Amino acid sequence: SSHRINIAIDGPAGAGKSTVARLVANALQYVYVDTGAMYRAVTAIALERGLSSDNAPEIGRLANELEIELLPGEDGQRVLADGEDVTGRLRSLEVNRNVSAVAAIESVRRKMADLQRRMADAKGVVMDGRDIGTHVLPNAELKVFLTASPRERAERRYKELGDNPGITLDQLKLDIAERDRKDQEREFAPLLQAPDARYLDSTGRSIDEIADQIVEWGRSAVRTISAREK
Ligand code: CDP
Ligand code: CDP
Repeated sequence: SSHRINIAIDGPAGAGKSTVARLVANALQYVYVDTGAMYRAVTAIALERGLSSDNAPEIGRLANELEIELLPGEDGQRVLADGEDVTGRLRSLEVNRNVSAVAAIESVRRKMADLQRRMADAKGVVMDGRDIGTHVLPNAELKVFLTASPRERAERRYKELGDNPGITLDQLKLDIAERDRKDQEREFAPLLQAPDARYLDSTGRSIDEIADQIVEWGRSAVRTISAREK
C-alpha cells in the first residue's frame, strides 16, 4: 500500500523492543529508529569527557552541541556523534548505570525529541524508546507498550553477556530495576503506557510471535487509514 504509518514501541529494559522493532521495520520495509541509542551516545561522550551524569547544565550544553546521526548499518543501526562512529561504546556497564540520569535532563530530552520527530516526518518509521507514544509521536498510528516480567527481562539481558558476563544475574536484575524506576519517576516524559497504546506482554513468547503480532496490527492500521481516505 502507498499509505505509510508511524509505529511507536515503548516499554522497560529487556522487553524486546529493539529486536522486535527491527523485525517489524524489515517486514514493512520501514525505517527502524532506536532512540535509546541517542541517549546512550550523549551519556558515553559525557562520561568520556569526565562529566558527572547529574551535571545537567554541562550535559545539556553537550547534547545541544553534539551532532547525532543514526545510520542503517550491516548489523543494525550505527550511531555517529560529530561524525565519529560510537556504536561500540554504547552498551557498557558504565553507560547502563548513568544513562537514566542523563535522560532525565529536560534540555537533553528536548533536543533528542526534536531530532526524533524530524526522523519520523516522512512516515514509515518504527521507533522504540520510553516516551515515543506519549510524547515524541503522540499521533503515531500504532502504539505498542511492550513488556515482560522483570525476571525474564533480566535473564534475557544476562544471556546476551555470554561466558564472561562481568556481573551477576542478581546485580543485573537490580541495575535494570533501578533504571526502570528512574525512567518511570522522572518528571519530564517518563516511561508510561499511552492511553491509546496496545499492551503486549512478551513473557514466555518468542521474538517472531511478538513481531508478527505487531506487523499484523500495523497492516490493519494501514488498511483502516486507506479505507478512510477513499
Ligand atoms: O536497550 P535498553 O532497553 O536497555 O535501553 P535503551 O532503549 O537503549 O535505553 C537506554 C536508556 O535511555 C533508558 O533506560 C532511558 O533512560 C533512556 N531512554 C529514554 O529516556 N527515552 C527514550 N525514548 C529512549 C531511551
Ligand atoms: O530493546 P529492549 O531493551 O526492550 O530489548 P531487546 O534488546 O530487544 O531484547 C533483549 C533480549 O531479549 C534480546 O537478546 C532478545 O533476543 C531477547 N528476546 C527474547 O528472548 N524474546 C522476546 N520475545 C524478545 C526478546
